[in-house]
Amino acid sequence: MAANDLVLAMTGASGAPYGVRLLEVLIRAGRTVHLVMSPAGVQVLQQEMDRRIDLEHFRLVDLLGPAAAEAASGQVLYHDHRNFLAGIASGSFLTAGMAICPCSSGTVAAIAHGLSQNLIHRAADVHLKEKRKLVLVPRETPLNIVQLRNLTICAEVGAVVLPASPGFYTKPRSLDDAIDFIVGRVCDQLGVEHRLFRRWGEKA
Ligand SMILES: Cc1cc2nc3c(=O)[nH]c(=O)nc-3n(C[C@H](O)[C@H](O)[C@H](O)COP(=O)(O)O)c2cc1C
Repeated sequence: MAANDLVLAMTGASGAPYGVRLLEVLIRAGRTVHLVMSPAGVQVLQQEMDRRIDLEHFRLVDLLGPAAAEAASGQVLYHDHRNFLAGIASGSFLTAGMAICPCSSGTVAAIAHGLSQNLIHRAADVHLKEKRKLVLVPRETPLNIVQLRNLTICAEVGAVVLPASPGFYTKPRSLDDAIDFIVGRVCDQLGVEHRLFRRWGEKA
């Protein structure tokens, strides 16, 4: 039995547009997405994209706007970050993988040390223990030794560390192109087909 479901968590690192775009792309790819946002993730989203989320009364329309929210038609299942009763808190609930995008240094630390203080940390723990794909998209610069060590621990236990650092060999012409490069690389890791950028060696 293989699940088609994916988990997407957005935490409080800069880079909310990456998370929002990833959600849009996963929806368009026909995937069911279990979405969790940390309170800091909501703060950053508001700061960077002027979108206000009420974590007590989550509405997809506040995150994606009316057209995209309507097109999602039940594909997004939102879970409160404090809800350890959610399916994704258990290894017996099958998923095809999880991305934390953007991923704060605080969340990286919690995963590296198994703290499981919220549903995001717990679902990440579950993906690691079940040997499923866990993609972390950290955004911080410069990185201190603690952050580097925590990222190393995450990589050692099986997470894919995919920093939000777009390549320029695709000749991005806009910020959207740069965002799509990172989102596309996350999709590659999750096995989601896309045409978000031209691959190296691919003809125009
Ligand atoms: C506007 C804003 C930008 C931030 N940018 C980053 C960042 O790029 N990387 C990071 O690790 N933390 C960043 N932080 C700090 C985190 O949000 C903070 O450490 C928070 O506790 C993370 O909690 P979470 O992992 O539960 O989301 C930022 C905070 C704010 C308000």
